[in-house]
Amino acid sequence: MTNPIYVAVDTGDIDRAEALARAVAPHVGGLKLGLEFFMAQGPAGVRRLTGIGLPVFLDVKLHDIPNTVAGAMRSLSGLGLAIVNVHAAGGRAMMAAAREAMDPATKVIAVTVLTSLDATDLADCGVAGAPADQVARLADLTRASGLDGIVCSAHEVAARAAAWPGGLFVVPGIRPAGSDIGDQKRVMTPQQALAAGAGVLVIGRPITGAADPAAAAAEIAASLS
Ligand code: C5P
Repeated sequence: MTNPIYVAVDTGDIDRAEALARAVAPHVGGLKLGLEFFMAQGPAGVRRLTGIGLPVFLDVKLHDIPNTVAGAMRSLSGLGLAIVNVHAAGGRAMMAAAREAMDPATKVIAVTVLTSLDATDLADCGVAGAPADQVARLADLTRASGLDGIVCSAHEVAARAAAWPGGLFVVPGIRPAGSDIGDQKRVMTPQQALAAGAGVLVIGRPITGAADPAAAAAEIAASLS
């Protein structure tokens, strides 16, 4: 089995990011770089980390008019990314343009509803009904737009995976049994998330916050094999 663990490198410091990535590299399947890293280090920083040899998920959640998102995807195309994402709320034409502009070897996935938003927040934005219904609607739109999958919470992955055979489901909010859940609200163990249909497990603090990140990553990896 390919190692499904992508470690969330949540820092803007290139040396810390590289040291962490090199330390955990033998025990993870990829790196997740987010906006904190990308805003500080840009494409050059991404290249430095892809140089380690692990697949990279660039979590930039693009959301703009189709022409602009397509241009951004073209600018990212040479980086050899494994996965990049957009907001499904950008709509069908934006998602199709993103897919079309990106290197075919890179999976393009979408964020449906940010897990920081609840029903009241959605109502404030003019979206009535339960967040789960909006997630389902946007997941269907993502699939219809030709994308490869979605980012979804552990809570949602079983239903979404059942509705989209062959989709890629990237799941954050993963906590090994007994670890500190931090600010995550709904968590699953790595084993539960995989059984529910996750293809990629995004794991940050249980690895990056450990006294020995390499050992923590190795332990999680071993628990999956
Ligand atoms: O440290 P932790 O394991 O909670 O890190 C999870 C990573 O996944 C962070 O980079 C966080 O921003 C990201 N993420 C998340 N929940 C989402 C989407 C992304 O925790 N719904």
